[in-house]
Amino acid sequence: MRIGFVGLGKLGLPVALATELKGHEVMGYDPSDSVKEIINTRKLPYMEAGCQELLDKTNIKIISLRELVAFSDIIFVAVQTPHLPKYEGITRIPTERKDFDYTFLKKAINDLSEEIENQKVKKIVIVISTVLPSTIEREIKPILSSYVRFCYNPFFIAMTTTIKDFLEPEFILFGVDDKEAVEMAKTFYRTITPSPFFETSIKNAELIKVLYNTFIGMKIVFANTAMEICHKIGADVDEVSKALALGYKRIISNQYLSGGMGDGGSCHPRDNIALSFLSEQQGLSYDWFTNLMVAREKQTEWLASLIVEEQTKSNLPIVILGKAYKPETNLVVGSPSVLLYNILCESKIECEMYDPFIDGKMPDKYFELPHIFFIGTKHNEFMDYVFPDNSIVIDPHRYIPHSDNYKVISIGQNKSPILIPKVIVPHARV
Ligand SMILES: NC(=O)c1ccc[n+]([C@@H]2O[C@H](COP(=O)([O-])OP(=O)(O)OC[C@H]3O[C@@H](n4cnc5c(N)ncnc54)[C@H](O)[C@@H]3O)[C@@H](O)[C@H]2O)c1
Repeated sequence: MRIGFVGLGKLGLPVALATELKGHEVMGYDPSDSVKEIINTRKLPYMEAGCQELLDKTNIKIISLRELVAFSDIIFVAVQTPHLPKYEGITRIPTERKDFDYTFLKKAINDLSEEIENQKVKKIVIVISTVLPSTIEREIKPILSSYVRFCYNPFFIAMTTTIKDFLEPEFILFGVDDKEAVEMAKTFYRTITPSPFFETSIKNAELIKVLYNTFIGMKIVFANTAMEICHKIGADVDEVSKALALGYKRIISNQYLSGGMGDGGSCHPRDNIALSFLSEQQGLSYDWFTNLMVAREKQTEWLASLIVEEQTKSNLPIVILGKAYKPETNLVVGSPSVLLYNILCESKIECEMYDPFIDGKMPDKYFELPHIFFIGTKHNEFMDYVFPDNSIVIDPHRYIPHSDNYKVISIGQNKSPILIPKVIVPHARV
């Protein structure tokens, strides 16, 4: 295929060279003099494994945007979306938070789109630059020509191993709302790698990309917390990490990766609290464990605020279904459902709880009168309940079937997102 690259920087150039290696004809457009110099002199000023060897023998040329549009079957856009140096993590976190700078990406897309419009040809344009969720809809879609078949395809690559990471990815992430474009993109990727292709909405893809990176950041903070504890109490961090890495079924697997209620049970919350004590006692530089517990509590407060918001609108009585800390048990120790109940009570919100494994038969009123039912525990039998007409069912596990007779709110799958959220339950002291 004939593949064009808009932006031949630290991501675009290695990927363009790897694409050429797989037998495609590749051309690029980049206004930067330093990029032209790299292509002309064939000297790479940065270290990138395998890149210099490919650059030595490449046929890639920098051509005009007009030529690139005419040439390409698919155009990748790898233009920078920078942050100011103060947001790069090399200084303390600034008090003010900022989005990335999309000026370069918007200019590149605008110019490209105009050229596609001029040539009046359908073109597949695949953006690979990193953006925050909702950016494509807000900043990019309004400037796209109707001839553009658009996809968002962020990469999970690390600098210095760009070529290897592009040719051997864990998965290929595609945000699309254009079936024609994605079929062509799949045909292209089949020539690059057998890795799985994950197709989703553009907004999901934007979020997956940045959450993937923050997950890694979270693991590193966790590992460094272990290192500091080990250093302070005289344990061996490499032994500790070696053992934790053997927990591939739960720690490194996809378990515990679905959104829902907070962590619960007789061990996890208790261990976090005990470790926050150790953290304080040892004077750890950052108390990761309190951080986990604060997050768990704040997230439960947020669920409480959703309940209160529905009650304010409907005036229905509230019942939390499930007291147990996990499905199909009657154990309530460390239960996030009970935490939710306590947070509501703390704000003087009237609320009842019911658990079939603890309280026996469900009271008749829950079958007869409309309520706000919050599904605190993902017990199987709640799936079969026929809730009273006009009830509101709030389901953080997203497994309760929807019905015309009552409203089911599947948390995390909101079809009409609230852009400016209201916090109704006051924050608990932590
Ligand atoms: N470098 C990486 O390893 C990496 C990994 C994953 C994601 N990303 C993302 O990819 C994007 C690009 O990153 P990078 O490191 O390659 O940046 P970079 O600054 O090295 O390269 C961007 C290139 O785009 C060119 N450019 C700017 N405006 C242009 C325009 N209007 N038309 C054509 N070209 C234009 C620039 O001249 C530059 O050569 C960023 O959003 C980044 O976050 C980078």
